[in-house]
Amino acid sequence: MKLSIRALLVAVAFAVAAPASAQFAKPEDAVKYRQSAMALIGNHMGRINAQLKADKPNVAAIQSSAALIETLSKLPFEAFTPGSDMVANTKVKPEYFKDTAKVKELAEKMQGEVSKLAAASKAGDVKSIQAQFGTVGQACKACHDDYRMK
Ligand code: HEC
Repeated sequence: MKLSIRALLVAVAFAVAAPASAQFAKPEDAVKYRQSAMALIGNHMGRINAQLKADKPNVAAIQSSAALIETLSKLPFEAFTPGSDMVANTKVKPEYFKDTAKVKELAEKMQGEVSKLAAASKAGDVKSIQAQFGTVGQACKACHDDYRMK
């Protein structure tokens, strides 16, 4: 098949220009995407927690999970698309879509703390990792308390 460069360039331009919500064909897809990202973040937080509770924490494993969480923490928020609070299995509260400035602040706070966790993990001091892990947990909870249903 001969690919038209022009058509390709047009497609790329559209892909770049499209708003985040256009990345999801249906609100259900957006919910699945953000829940999947959150679930992976939660899984790796659990792995770090398990290491921190171990007699000899595996710092390499913590570093790996912390680096993944740093990347994953960038994923969920574009998937909170307008109207996706109406999807049956979502736990997002409708207020999430009204308090946009507050939500943005909470998301950025969490991402900042997660970056610090990745840095602390690289440095390798278990006490500092432990302290920063707790701070990240607080940042997760701050948003869940107000914007996620029990
Ligand atoms: C700015 C808000 C916000 C922050 C910060 C946040 N979350 Fe969430 N999280 C949510 C919302 C809202 C949901 C519900 C999403 C849904 O059901 O559509 C959720 C869902 C989850 C879920 C359930 C996913 C599933 O399987 O349905 C887990 C696990 C989770 N978050 C973990 C975390 C962890 C760990 C952090 C911190 C590193 C974190 N979240 C930070 C808002 C946030």
